[in-house]
Amino acid sequence: MKPNSQVLDLSVDLQKESYDWRKDVITNKAKFIEEIEKILNNGDISWLKREIHSIKAIFAYPRNDKIGLLNIDGNGDTAILKKGPLMEEIKQIEEAHTIERAKYYLERLKKGINEIRTSKINDINLNRWKEYTDVITDSLWVLDKRDASGAHLGWYWGNFIPQIPHQLMLRYTKKGEWVIDPFVGSGTTLIESRQLGRNGLGVELNPTVANEAKKLIKKERNIHSVITEVITHDARTVDLKNYLDKYGVKKVQLLIMHPPYYDIIKFSRTKEDLSCAPNVETFVKMFGEVFDNIESFLEGGRYLGIVIGDKYSKGEWMPLGFYIMQEVLKRNYLLKGIIVKNFEETRAKRNQKELWRYRALVGGFYIFKHEYILLFKKGAKKL
Ligand SMILES: C[S@@+](CC[C@H](N)C(=O)[O-])C[C@H]1O[C@@H](n2cnc3c(N)ncnc32)[C@H](O)[C@@H]1O
Repeated sequence: MKPNSQVLDLSVDLQKESYDWRKDVITNKAKFIEEIEKILNNGDISWLKREIHSIKAIFAYPRNDKIGLLNIDGNGDTAILKKGPLMEEIKQIEEAHTIERAKYYLERLKKGINEIRTSKINDINLNRWKEYTDVITDSLWVLDKRDASGAHLGWYWGNFIPQIPHQLMLRYTKKGEWVIDPFVGSGTTLIESRQLGRNGLGVELNPTVANEAKKLIKKERNIHSVITEVITHDARTVDLKNYLDKYGVKKVQLLIMHPPYYDIIKFSRTKEDLSCAPNVETFVKMFGEVFDNIESFLEGGRYLGIVIGDKYSKGEWMPLGFYIMQEVLKRNYLLKGIIVKNFEETRAKRNQKELWRYRALVGGFYIFKHEYILLFKKGAKKL
């Protein structure tokens, strides 16, 4: 029943009102395939180009649709296509020099509409991979504005921007799968998991923060009917099995970890808090304890993303990111990527930009402008 999942996707997107009539084309799938087959069965290239041109005109100006190629109401069997890549494909057919080439492109278009081909770890339809322009595949992420959709508020000092869990979930989970975030903070990961139709379990040490996160998460409409739960506990000792058992879940498909960057922001005054570790060695050790307590629930072959930045201490760059990376690499995890992401300036730093530049010039140091997203795959290394 795979091909029908596109129809399902449509109803969900329409509910979410994230559907963009300028960028997307809702076609009547059966009619579109019928038109393509009609063209494929004819041997004349001029006729083929004329036909394909009239289809293009319908996509460009929907009012031209006299044959029912579009399915504006979203009723029946529907194929939703991104307008940009679709027009590119049509242009390629129009510009083909031989009938064989034109038919090759047409067959490819037909396959992309008819069949959904995904990998085991996400819902990206590889037959229409050009449509996923919003999925980042570069190792440098320059994200300028915080996504403020739904319940994302950005009130918590030390949060990350929703685009980070958004990207990780799109790449490394399918709809309906499970994500764990053991440093949940204001709940960014779980709000995003709700938006994207993934189940989410989070752990947060600070009860006040955990309660705020719970309230915020509740504000996010649960249109995909997923589970989102925040546990107030020390992530080093929480018994996640208890919670997962409740939902009949044995393994999860993605871990997202955003620990404190050692003591840069003190999140509380409790000794269980990683930001209160007495020294960097203890901080890394505590991180390892959280890791060992949580990672056993991650399914083999699935992914872990850690978001972490470095710090300066007594005039020395302290590579927290690399310490944490080494800690993970002691386990059976394969490093899949080191993503460098631009760092949002804190308001205090923005107001004192000149002063910081002067200090950097005098002190011979560099002002932090980036943090890391470390990506690992479980169980892929021979120990
Ligand atoms: C960098 S923040 C995470 C922010 C989160 N990604 C967001 O967008 O709001 C780290 C969080 O880890 C929590 N924390 C620190 N030590 C912890 C521990 N041992 N167990 C669970 N949470 C802990 C802190 O209270 C803090 O809220």
